[in-house]
Amino acid sequence: MSVSRKRTVIMISGRGSNMASLIEAASERSFPAEIVGIISDKADARGLHIAAAKGLPARVIAKGDFSSKEAHDAAIDDALSTFEAEIVCLAGYMRLLTAGFVEKWQSRMLNIHPALLPAFRGLDTHARALEAGMRIHGCTVHFVTAETDSGPIIAQAAVPVLLDDTEATLAARVLKAEHHLYPLALRMVALGMARMEGGRTVFADTELVEQSAGGFLSSPSAVRDAVDLEQLARFTP
Ligand code: GRF
Repeated sequence: MSVSRKRTVIMISGRGSNMASLIEAASERSFPAEIVGIISDKADARGLHIAAAKGLPARVIAKGDFSSKEAHDAAIDDALSTFEAEIVCLAGYMRLLTAGFVEKWQSRMLNIHPALLPAFRGLDTHARALEAGMRIHGCTVHFVTAETDSGPIIAQAAVPVLLDDTEATLAARVLKAEHHLYPLALRMVALGMARMEGGRTVFADTELVEQSAGGFLSSPSAVRDAVDLEQLARFTP
């Protein structure tokens, strides 16, 4: 059976490890999305080397080359049209997008955030989670809306906060979960199993969602790292 794979463009600003996990997942022919291009707002983004190594077309569209945020986002929109993008995945794209751009791509644009939203919107999420004494932390994939880190949640994965965690060890544990979660969430959106409607995420078939999640949240231990992160992936609802 031939499957029409959703043409997906990933937008980055830096390291690109989430981008790499999406590329890896989409390298399976059965994955319902194909990565057709990368856009970076930084010419020196490390992720661009990964894209080049994978032979993926990448465009650098730097804010400094445009007179306004609107003109910058219009150039990105043009590039997305050239790529014939159907889905956009923000993966460490560190610039706020204009309302017009977000409106145009709403319900087709995803972001990954390193916290269990709506807790810890914005930056420095791991330091703030430690400071707050959180025992559970994690990551969220959500549809992008005009208000930063506030769009409807598609999927979340939780990890334990260990007693001896530092910002770096906690960030590394969350990042591992991110690399599992983002492909699962993109898969659900590409298949139409999760879609944005009336400002919420609507799930097509909860049984399929369950199967796709590959497990449920297991009770996180405060002294031992998670053995199977896949098991920690938890889909909402
Ligand atoms: C990730 O932690 C992601 O959640 C956040 O920015 C970071 C990007 O890391 N939005 P990478 O570029 O994917 O390695």
